[in-house]
Amino acid sequence: MKIKEATFVASYPRESSCPPAEQAVPEFAFIGRSNVGKSSLINMLTGRKHLAKVSGTPGKTQLLNYFHINNTWYLVDLPGYGYAKLAKFKREKLAKMIDGYLLNRPTLYLAFVLIDSNIPPKQVDLDFIDGLGEQGIPFALVFTKCDKQSKGKVQKSIGVFLDKLSETWETLPPYFISSSMHNTGREEILDYIQNILDTH
Ligand code: GTP
Ligand code: MG
Repeated sequence: MKIKEATFVASYPRESSCPPAEQAVPEFAFIGRSNVGKSSLINMLTGRKHLAKVSGTPGKTQLLNYFHINNTWYLVDLPGYGYAKLAKFKREKLAKMIDGYLLNRPTLYLAFVLIDSNIPPKQVDLDFIDGLGEQGIPFALVFTKCDKQSKGKVQKSIGVFLDKLSETWETLPPYFISSSMHNTGREEILDYIQNILDTH
């Protein structure tokens, strides 16, 4: 898929204020723990350096951010989950916002769940993935920041994560490996989105 147009639409505090689902615009959401590299990945995929706000301070994205791509589909940057340093009530508010979106959005075609390829499996990620499975929400994984380690170490770390998933899952989800610094995974992810759009 070539990105010809990528424009910021708006940020919404809850699912009910998002663009009406009746418009039937397909949506692909990006989600993951705070600081995993969601906004950077979105900028990398769209080829627009400053489309989504990147920050060194975790917890930057606290709204449902909509981007319109090629006048065909919405890319949605979701807030990070499980950020321990955030006040409990704020964390709960964000969790509510995320669940409200994921569970009530008929136009959501797929959620990309971002996992940092440099750290051992986190329970909060495994729980989140299990939750998606239980709710029947289609998703794929993206192992981010693969430039920070050697290829071998990245493969090993992904293997450990997938092994952990196999404890609860019979079939493993599709997954991608990305680096927003080096454009790694860009074509694969965009082609995957295109494929889903084509088959719907
Ligand atoms: P929140 O919105 O705060 O939840 O974070 P986020 O998931 O959107 O992460 P963001 O894209 O803002 O990136 C967080 C930090 O990780 C920034 O310092 C980025 O520069 C860095 N980062 C993101 N992607 C990559 C990557 O592919 N490689 C490396 N080395 N660093 C990255
Ligand atoms: Mg962000």
